[in-house]
Amino acid sequence: MIIGIVKETKEYENRVALSPEVVKLIRKKGFDVVVESGAGEKSYFSNQDYEAAGATIGTSKEALGADLVLKVNLATPQEIALMKEGAAYISYMYAYQHPEVVAAFNAKRISSFSMDAVPRISRAQKMDALSSQANLAGYKAVLLGANYLGKIFPLLMTASGTITPARVLIFGAGVAGLQAIATAKRLGAVVECTDVRPETKEQVESLGGRYLSVEGAEGVKTEGGYAREVSAEYLEKQQQLIREKIKDADLVITTALVMGKKSPILVTEDMVKSMKAGSVIVDMAVESGGNCAISEKNATVVKHGVTLVGESNLPSLLPVNASQLYATNISTLAFHLIGETGISLDLEDEITKGVLITHQGELVHAFTKQILSQ
Ligand code: NAI
Repeated sequence: MIIGIVKETKEYENRVALSPEVVKLIRKKGFDVVVESGAGEKSYFSNQDYEAAGATIGTSKEALGADLVLKVNLATPQEIALMKEGAAYISYMYAYQHPEVVAAFNAKRISSFSMDAVPRISRAQKMDALSSQANLAGYKAVLLGANYLGKIFPLLMTASGTITPARVLIFGAGVAGLQAIATAKRLGAVVECTDVRPETKEQVESLGGRYLSVEGAEGVKTEGGYAREVSAEYLEKQQQLIREKIKDADLVITTALVMGKKSPILVTEDMVKSMKAGSVIVDMAVESGGNCAISEKNATVVKHGVTLVGESNLPSLLPVNASQLYATNISTLAFHLIGETGISLDLEDEITKGVLITHQGELVHAFTKQILSQ
């Protein structure tokens, strides 16, 4: 069986699907790996590193012609055209947003598996790229925010006077939010955080953050560690709390996500106007619509005296670690799907069922089907 790795073509993407270290592991299991020349360059992995790990360096056509193609971002129509009939494919897919890709995979009977659909269960932790990447992104969001601030984070008592610590306000205490809390605390800020899931209170506090509760948590439906639905009444109460708190914040990091839905707008333009001049918002949810009404995707803009950072691919700014972790995630999933001689699927298995999008010419993923039929 041949596994193919291509250079990512998406704008702002510095990651690559496999690191040389993981290539070595795959070779040990007896599979061949073809890496497109230069695929690892932006993650500082050279062709020589891959060759030393046992891979063959080839063209994109050769890598895409593999039995199993591994990528970070969804394949383009040009890439799909070069893939083999009946091949297997894994990457982030967000298939519910890309019916045309689903159709293209089905036309070639490609079995596709999506990294964004890995269930959040302990057995699948090592495959969970959303978590590994969000963790890095939460860290980077704080550093970016700190960079744009005209202030330092920690309390500083000097002969010239006392500097009070910066105030960081974080929305969402999922993977990214918790790492952001930990990072901001390490830098010495006072950190507050709110989340719709009341069970996150303990996690926020264990990292030294202050949890801000919103009344009426019964208006929130959760499932498998994700928020699934948040009532309008809850959001209204939350808005009051945010309006009060945001005026004092120096840095706001928004990470609120409701699975499969457009991100909730938590910070309105009026709230931005009420913030101190020179304060910063890092809107991590910018890819799925944003948590701030006036942030802009892949741009840093100043509006009403506030710097709004809308970087949609923060992990890509840490490509070495991001590629290392992603390589572990995707290879672990690949090993889960591969039998002695090739891809061998147990369609009753929770992980396989969770990630399998198209198979034998059909869209089989329940969640994607449901969203696409709406
Ligand atoms: P997660 O699902 O672990 O966490 C999201 C959290 O938001 C959950 O704890 C959820 O309960 C909470 N939430 C939902 N609605 C809320 C509301 N109205 N108010 C407060 N909290 C609310 O997701 P994860 O992995 O931490 O990612 C967070 C966000 O960051 C997502 O939008 C994700 O797409 C984005 N992200 C962005 C990156 C970037 O480069 N900009 C990189 C990685 C993730």
